[in-house]
Amino acid sequence: SFTSFSQVGHALALQPQLAHAHGGGCIPAERAALLAFHKGITSDNASVLASWHGHDCCRWRGVSCNNRIGHVIKLHLPNTSPDLNTYGDANSLYGEISTSLLSLKHLEHMDLSMNCLVGTNSHIPQFLSSMENLRYLNLCGMPFTGRVPSQLGNLSKLQHLDLGQGYSEMYSADITWLTKLPLLQYLSMNGINLSRITDWPGTLNMIPSLRVINLAACSLDTASQSLPYLNLTKLEKLDLSENNLGHSIASSWFWKVTSLKYLSLRLNFRANWLFGKLPDALGNMTSLKVLDVSATNLNKSGNIENLCSLEVLDLSKNPMIGDIVVLMEGLPRCARGKLLELNLHGNEFTGALPNFIGEFSSLSMLDLSCNNLVGSIPTGLRNLVHLTILDLDWNLLNGTIPTEIGDLTSLVSLDLSENKFSGEIPTRLWNLVRLTYLDLSMNQLNGNVPTEIGALTALTYLVIFSNNLTGSIPAELGKLKHLTILSLKDNKITGPIPPELGYLKNMVGLDLSNNNLSGVITEEHFANLKSLKGIDLSSNSLRIVVDSDWHSPFSLQFADFASCQIGPLFPAWLQQLRGITHLDISSTGLVDKFPGWFWYTF
Ligand SMILES: *[C@@H]1O[C@H](CO)[C@@H](O)[C@H](O)[C@H]1NC(C)=O
Ligand SMILES: *[C@@H]1O[C@H](CO)[C@@H](O)[C@H](O)[C@H]1NC(C)=O
Ligand SMILES: *[C@@H]1O[C@H](CO)[C@@H](O)[C@H](O)[C@H]1NC(C)=O
Ligand SMILES: *[C@@H]1O[C@H](CO)[C@@H](O)[C@H](O)[C@H]1NC(C)=O
Repeated sequence: SFTSFSQVGHALALQPQLAHAHGGGCIPAERAALLAFHKGITSDNASVLASWHGHDCCRWRGVSCNNRIGHVIKLHLPNTSPDLNTYGDANSLYGEISTSLLSLKHLEHMDLSMNCLVGTNSHIPQFLSSMENLRYLNLCGMPFTGRVPSQLGNLSKLQHLDLGQGYSEMYSADITWLTKLPLLQYLSMNGINLSRITDWPGTLNMIPSLRVINLAACSLDTASQSLPYLNLTKLEKLDLSENNLGHSIASSWFWKVTSLKYLSLRLNFRANWLFGKLPDALGNMTSLKVLDVSATNLNKSGNIENLCSLEVLDLSKNPMIGDIVVLMEGLPRCARGKLLELNLHGNEFTGALPNFIGEFSSLSMLDLSCNNLVGSIPTGLRNLVHLTILDLDWNLLNGTIPTEIGDLTSLVSLDLSENKFSGEIPTRLWNLVRLTYLDLSMNQLNGNVPTEIGALTALTYLVIFSNNLTGSIPAELGKLKHLTILSLKDNKITGPIPPELGYLKNMVGLDLSNNNLSGVITEEHFANLKSLKGIDLSSNSLRIVVDSDWHSPFSLQFADFASCQIGPLFPAWLQQLRGITHLDISSTGLVDKFPGWFWYTF
């Protein structure tokens, strides 16, 4: 009961809501429109629409109403299954978008992304262009085909338009309708074939409100159009990756856009190549945080020393040459403490790593792999305590692996393979308890695989092949429960294989070939290897002895037991390996008759 005047006033203000609550939750015509939309959905495996019943449609999942009048203003049903790159997965809605949605006259926001609601003709429905109150439209990842309807230019209130595809069969020969969207801030047409449109920058330049443009993989063959006057002064993000640009990098129109924070030209080598060096104008793009020019055929970085906001620099997969020290000195000094990712993978940099690398103290990812770097790892590297990924593989680095790497306790992935590192693996490396990936292969490391390795329980990938390791395989490897790949091949390891390796139920590939291992392998060694697909025990002095009625827990595709003692009888368990595509049982002492399937398979 209302006692005070103000409470009565409050109750009166609420009356429209109360009125429609009495009428059944939400506006009946809009509820009917949503139910008709529901009817158009033929499959909903993830039960996304399970809550779509009852009177109050404003409470249905994905539906939001204007809280004053009760009109539906938002329909938010993106398919957010973990692998966002594949539409049409089990969690997707299938069917069509019903024209009934036209009754939602107040709808401002519609997100049906990553769902298969493409109907029978699989074109973007034209009626969407009559939903004039839309401010936000996200149809990304819906597998539409055909032409993008220019009628979308009727949606003059749009601020956010995402038609991005991925594996699109959509195209557009005219995007001038975009200029009728004067409030547009976000535009993604990622994956839509725009190859027939020549002056796309001129069109976009008529929409000064734009903050984000994603035209990745649009079959664009040039970005060198001239823009006499730049209106795009609010543009923060420009993604032109995976196009077909074939002109000098410096002649591109976007170098004038000093508001840019994110620029990606990645992988522009489809048929054409960009070429040349980054232009001096880049020096004025002081807001840039992310610059991705990987695989652009870039041969020289430009003057970037003013880019004090830089957080991610990707120059990978280019034909850049020169001393790594010169390159690193050219990186903005003011950003040394801010840079999070530096990727120089797959260039032809030479020289030794400078000690001042330690000043890049915020780095979480450093990839210098596949260059021609020499010398040893500088002690300065110990300062990079935020590193999660360190890739120095495929260089000519030498010396010992510095003990200090064991202090980089954030590391998740460490790859030092294919270098000339020598000496023992430093024991402090076994402090890196977050490591999931460790590759020290193809070096000249010696000494034992220490028992402390059992502390790295997060490891899924452990390969130290082609070194000079001696000693025996520690039973502690059996503690690495997440291991999927283990390779110690091509070393000088001796002794028996510990049966504890048989505990590793996630192991997919095991390679211990070409060592000096000896002893007997029994059922216990294989007891839990349920996931095993490949095993190589060849070129050792091992004997495999299992009972004739033993059933292996795995179904192998690859097995190499060459030179292991298996015979003289063809063992029953080998007969279970019917899915196998590679089997080497040479020099195994078999003198028996081979089973019939063997001759069918090979
Ligand atoms: C949309 O735009 C087209 C021209 O682009 C126009 O003919 C049409 O009347 C507009 N309105 C609707 C509701 O489609
Ligand atoms: C884009 O369209 C053009 C012209 O129709 C065609 O030649 C080209 O192959 C298309 N590109 C892709 C990636 O489908
Ligand atoms: C943007 O710049 C062009 C010149 O490139 C000019 O003709 C046009 O009127 C401008 N458009 C807007 C919307 O400001
Ligand atoms: C950088 O900006 C300044 C000031 O706007 C301008 O004078 C200069 O020409 C620009 N530099 C380049 C290389 O474009």
